[in-house]
Amino acid sequence: MANKQSTSGESVSGVLEQLSGKHVLITGTTGFLGKVVLEKLIRGVPDIGGIHLLIRGNKKHPDARSRFMEEIASSSVFDRLRHDDNDGFESFIESRVHCITGEVTEPRFGLDATAFRELAGSVDAFINSAASVNFREELDKALQINTLCLHNVAALAGFNRNMAVIQVSTCYVNGKNSGQVTESVIKPAGEPIPRSNDGYYEIEELVHLLEDKIADVRARYSGQMLEKKLVDLGIREANHYGWSDTYTFTKWLGEQLLMKSLSGRSLTILRPSIIESALEEPAPGWIEGVKVADAIILAYAREKVSLFPGKRSGIIDVIPVDLVANSIILSMAEALRVPGKRRIYQCCSGSSNPVSLGEFIDCVMAEAKHHHEDYQQLFYRKPTKPFVAVNRRLFDLVVGGLRVPLSLADKALRFAGQTRELKILKNLDTSRSLATIFGFYTAPDYIFRNDSLLALASRMGELDRILFPVDARQIDWSLYLRKIHMSGLNRYALKERKLYSLRSARARKKAA
Ligand SMILES: NC(=O)c1ccc[n+]([C@@H]2O[C@H](COP(=O)([O-])OP(=O)(O)OC[C@H]3O[C@@H](n4cnc5c(N)ncnc54)[C@H](OP(=O)(O)O)[C@@H]3O)[C@@H](O)[C@H]2O)c1
Repeated sequence: MANKQSTSGESVSGVLEQLSGKHVLITGTTGFLGKVVLEKLIRGVPDIGGIHLLIRGNKKHPDARSRFMEEIASSSVFDRLRHDDNDGFESFIESRVHCITGEVTEPRFGLDATAFRELAGSVDAFINSAASVNFREELDKALQINTLCLHNVAALAGFNRNMAVIQVSTCYVNGKNSGQVTESVIKPAGEPIPRSNDGYYEIEELVHLLEDKIADVRARYSGQMLEKKLVDLGIREANHYGWSDTYTFTKWLGEQLLMKSLSGRSLTILRPSIIESALEEPAPGWIEGVKVADAIILAYAREKVSLFPGKRSGIIDVIPVDLVANSIILSMAEALRVPGKRRIYQCCSGSSNPVSLGEFIDCVMAEAKHHHEDYQQLFYRKPTKPFVAVNRRLFDLVVGGLRVPLSLADKALRFAGQTRELKILKNLDTSRSLATIFGFYTAPDYIFRNDSLLALASRMGELDRILFPVDARQIDWSLYLRKIHMSGLNRYALKERKLYSLRSARARKKAA
């Protein structure tokens, strides 16, 4: 699929040739990555035949088209397209973006048999980006969206043998394995699971076991206690089989399910690492919501956390969202050109351009120290405390040791009439809960490799490497973290600060 020379001697993009006139179905476009993929397809592949979006309705927008118009088309992700050619963009979404109201977790996506079959016949490729990315999701919900719904994905592909399925997974399906992580089927780090001759793991029995345990918990609890027990069950089962959380465990199960049901067919498993703001496209720093690493940056910026469990020398694998969207598009073009194969790609930075947790922290702290006033939404003032990463045992010792006397002091003060919780105790609890959720990710002893993805990019040729860059070696980490990502967080992810803060209200009252 390398770029060819046209008759006039110009280089022709293999990706653009391959995707010309093709129809692509995408799930998860109300989410962060899905939006960037959609934007890049509209802007970067103008000859695409059509883009079909499976969107579930919600209370406010029960049908997919109205949800698309309100929650997707209005997003700042399309500012560049609107700025360059608003009429062209409007006409594209009118004529070539087709919205389907459906729920990916329901059989046939909730469509009738004819509509489901017609959908299968009308699309050439299917990008499945929908997921629950909540690390501590209730096990039943995580299993539905990250694993079992892939039966429905496979059923759709079953009606169209040529369909290329691109499953967006995560590098963290690696779980608790350490060392170099290649683009291959991952062996569970915990309790063994039987493996098939085709390389994937046989998960049917395990899924039934999990369903039985879910039913048992449901029979015994209700309300909020039921939710908590289902969260606990997910973490317990994940830990038992070798994962740190329910999200990554159920995504791994999803990979096995698809490898089995699409055996001999076109299946690409695309595993990004921690996806963060865009390096360049659609705009440097573009991001939606506060992602994994950002929750910790934000807690530091607001001076809620200054001690965190982590390994400063560990490689914290971050990848800008535009490189992930490009990887999806490149691998989709390849799967359409050479169908019938199973491929696994990792879109990550760890092996080719590593950045350590220590470097990451130092960049954020240096920017906070010297330029905090440039980030009005992120920093309310210059942080006075450093952000220190210590090993887990020390963290537990310090936080556990401090908590007992502090909560006693808090109780005493409340008894004496104080109504608000001690700030230091509140901050300690914030550190503890962030450490519970993200602690595994800040002490990495694995390195994700992306050799196959880089080989794919090199097979594609120079023009496609320029149009659809995937290579993390182009990232200058200091520039990206300090100037692009922090600006992006400030500009796109954080809501404008309320003008009438409590303090200014008090000041006004005093002045009056
Ligand atoms: N973010 C990361 O750092 C990261 C890293 C590695 C891999 N990934 C993978 O990348 C993909 C996209 O992640 P993201 O960050 O874009 O997630 P996101 O912003 O949370 O978006 C999730 C999307 O999935 C849909 N979804 C969730 N539950 C659903 C359900 N039960 N039924 C139907 N749709 C459902 C959501 O639709 P609704 O709006 O209708 O809920 C939304 O469109 C996922 O497959 C994830 O595993 C993400």
